Amino acid sequence: MTESDNHIVAEANRRRTFAIISHPDAGKTTLTEALLLLGGAIREAGLVKGKQSRRAATSDWMEIERQRGISVTSTVLQFPYQGRHLNILDTPGHEDFSDDTYRTLTAADSVVMLIDAAKGVEPQTIKLFQVCRLRQIPIYTFINKMDRESRDPLDLLKELEDVLGIRSYPMTWPVGAGGDFQGVYHRQRQVFEHFRGRQEEAEVLQVSGVDDARLSDILGAAAAEKLLEDVELLDVAGEAFDLDRINRGDLTPVFFGSALAHFGVQSFLNDFVQLAPNPTPRKRLDGTVMPTDAPFSGFIFKIQANMNPAHRDRVAFLRICSGKFERGMSVHHVRLNRPLNLSQSQQFFAQDRTTVEEAFPGDIVGLHDPGLFQIGDTLSAGEKFQFEPLPQFSPEHFARVTAADTLKHKQFQKGLQQLSEEGAIQLFRMANRTEDLIIGVVGRLQFEVFEHRLRAEYGAEPVLSHLPYKYARWLAETPVDALNYDHASCMIVRDQQQHLVMLFSDDFALRWVSEKNPQVRLYETSYGL
Ligand code: G4P
Repeated sequence: MTESDNHIVAEANRRRTFAIISHPDAGKTTLTEALLLLGGAIREAGLVKGKQSRRAATSDWMEIERQRGISVTSTVLQFPYQGRHLNILDTPGHEDFSDDTYRTLTAADSVVMLIDAAKGVEPQTIKLFQVCRLRQIPIYTFINKMDRESRDPLDLLKELEDVLGIRSYPMTWPVGAGGDFQGVYHRQRQVFEHFRGRQEEAEVLQVSGVDDARLSDILGAAAAEKLLEDVELLDVAGEAFDLDRINRGDLTPVFFGSALAHFGVQSFLNDFVQLAPNPTPRKRLDGTVMPTDAPFSGFIFKIQANMNPAHRDRVAFLRICSGKFERGMSVHHVRLNRPLNLSQSQQFFAQDRTTVEEAFPGDIVGLHDPGLFQIGDTLSAGEKFQFEPLPQFSPEHFARVTAADTLKHKQFQKGLQQLSEEGAIQLFRMANRTEDLIIGVVGRLQFEVFEHRLRAEYGAEPVLSHLPYKYARWLAETPVDALNYDHASCMIVRDQQQHLVMLFSDDFALRWVSEKNPQVRLYETSYGL
């Protein structure tokens, strides 16, 4: 190995690229902020924009941009911690929930699943979890808001298993909750972190074990006894710690704490940086790319238009999968089969952009995009190969779309095509009437953005008539005439890759079709088709 290869390996090994998945209000912003504070990336809380401003989205695109604040402009936050380089990928939630949220997960090597201790597993978490499951990536769980009334911790773990189908290994175990919350015990380190109120610094106590008499002194006899019983039960009847299973996404390490009180966050982060994987191998159509393979390669997972009103440009986000990225380097744009000079590369932190001179596997780089990129594009400095295409995920809202002005039909078609390639919407055509165009989105706000952009960037006015469908399911090629389905609650369309897709209005319609067509397998994404 050359010195430069060694350098790439060392840098790749330092990277931890992860996303936080949660339901709105579970505390993602608060946890992100606590992590950034620990890493010294910010000095005080408040940089990550308040939710209040994010909530009031309006239909004005610029206004949406402004109000989305950090969820748009950051995309990835980097900070150093204990010699590691952490990249937190932002997964837009709330009304920003969109196809991008899912796609961002394809760029992560692991995720932190944040659960509200009072609410347990919530719908948005389930959806995001399922996407992680597809790739079998490691999932670390942080159960938040222990300083508030919470559900029984064993119940919460059972719910992870029943609802998500994932086994858990509690790394820490809580004593009490809400007003009685006393802290967490770290099962492997035999450390007790004593919670002394939201404003107080935690007291950290190294004990000889869960039966150490000092725990009784601090917690009181009854609470110490309960902790002893709980931990013994976990040791005897719970899962064993198994990093291979964790790395396969089969077992999740669980931590308890309070992001708001910054309690339990540091011990979580200490374990996370040790255990979470460095950049993982990536699948290409004909094999695998190892992060330490030279030369450079990466793929585009997100395209953001109008990142900053002052620039009015598009930025394509590139996940580096192997080798070293250097500004100005010449790479091959595989789909376009042409060379490309990567001179305009940027990283983002809150409202700031900085030029990136070099970056390594696991890093995310923003590339100025004059319209060259599509979601899933591969860039490579070596041989010409293609990473596996990014899957399409089931939209939840659908509309038939036509051009208000038939004279503008050309612009309308071009806009639709480009916006779908950019991942702003999913475009479908009816299987038997291909001139009928249907668009699908994961989050409703995408419709507004789509209408605004079609008008502003392509000069075409769309007319949307909303359709009553809620799910899309992909299916392998099959004779459409042979499918048994109810036309009132289903529609058959094709996506841009010509895959067959069925749209369903509700669970009942979905189940009915599954039962009546046992020969047909319905897929929740286009993954693997
Ligand atoms: P999100 O990004 O996942 O949507 O959640 P966010 O961090 O904005 O947190 C949602 C609410 O939960 C906020 O309160 C936040 O202060 C609170 N919160 C987060 N972590 C904890 C915790 O560990 N303990 C307690 N008790 N509360 C927590 P809010 O009043 O709705 O928000 P704001 O109006 O103050 O911004």
